[in-house]
Amino acid sequence: MRPTLTSFVALAYCLSGALAGSYTLIDNYVGSTFLSAFVHEAIADPTHGRVNYVNQATAVAKNLTFASGNTLILRADDTTVLSPSGPGRNSVRIRSVKAYTTHVAIIDVRHMPQGCGTWPAFWETDGSDWPNGGEVDIIEGVNDQSPNAMTLHTGANCNMPASRAETGTPTGLNCDVNTDGNTGCGVQAPTANSYGPALNAIGGGWYAMERTNNFIKVWFFPRNGNTPSDLKNGASSINTDNWGTPTALFPNTNCDIGSHFDQNNIIINLTFCGDWAGAVYGNSGCPSTCVDYVNNNPSAFKNAYWDIAAVRVYE
Ligand SMILES: *[C@@H]1O[C@H](CO)[C@@H](O)[C@H](O)[C@H]1NC(C)=O
Ligand SMILES: *[C@@H]1O[C@H](CO)[C@@H](O)[C@H](O)[C@H]1NC(C)=O
Repeated sequence: MRPTLTSFVALAYCLSGALAGSYTLIDNYVGSTFLSAFVHEAIADPTHGRVNYVNQATAVAKNLTFASGNTLILRADDTTVLSPSGPGRNSVRIRSVKAYTTHVAIIDVRHMPQGCGTWPAFWETDGSDWPNGGEVDIIEGVNDQSPNAMTLHTGANCNMPASRAETGTPTGLNCDVNTDGNTGCGVQAPTANSYGPALNAIGGGWYAMERTNNFIKVWFFPRNGNTPSDLKNGASSINTDNWGTPTALFPNTNCDIGSHFDQNNIIINLTFCGDWAGAVYGNSGCPSTCVDYVNNNPSAFKNAYWDIAAVRVYE
């Protein structure tokens, strides 16, 4: 059959739609689905934190992981005084079984871990080929210090322009882990309510990360703000073209995003002290030293928990 003009136009429209910001929901992680779709990684902290990551059976038994209804809680132990020569504070690190290339990942977060010495992160990486498979840090910070940092870590030859269409502020332009002590190419969110106690005070909000072969974008929408309805409601299809200027934009002008990033898993973790939180603890206004504080003040970690309504992935 000869294609008609109308079917050509329809096809062209579909293709351009698929190339632009239209995506379909493929994974909807809510409540107990996290227990089968994510693995608890009881591993030694690669960033040398004062943490003891426990497995899923232990996490559930101790109620450090609570996954039910529309709630996922991931928390650290807040009752045990630690022996300085023993393991670190019990906490949780979970990684998605599935891995993703080009996609949109959204987290609806009600509360994130807070407290001196905490270093929580919601991020993506390829655990088996770091840094060549890339790392995208979507929510990350230390010692309750706002604002949120969104950062790429890559292999060599990935640089970001200083001036970009984003609301955040760049803190580093070279994404290569072997430069600048692996600080990566980061962007700070413009508002204090993007992280920690100030984010928790407004009931959290949404973070969304879009990865294509041309760019990586991150948006933050506070709970009390104006949030695109498709993103907010977990719609079955979304269009990122309607979401406005991103909080962070990482373009491919001087970084071949497609070759620096391969299949990445979603990871949610909470560590203490270590390479970042420990290194800057002295300038954070927090008491004592990081490790002593974490060892001796369990009740200071009552609010060191994630409360996550959903993580959704669109392709
Ligand atoms: C936690 O997340 C951050 C991501 O920013 C990562 O750099 C760090 O290695 C992670 N730490 C642990 C112990 O999983
Ligand atoms: C486990 O944690 C959840 C969420 O914080 C809480 O509602 C529940 O009561 C806890 N269960 C136990 C047995 O403490």
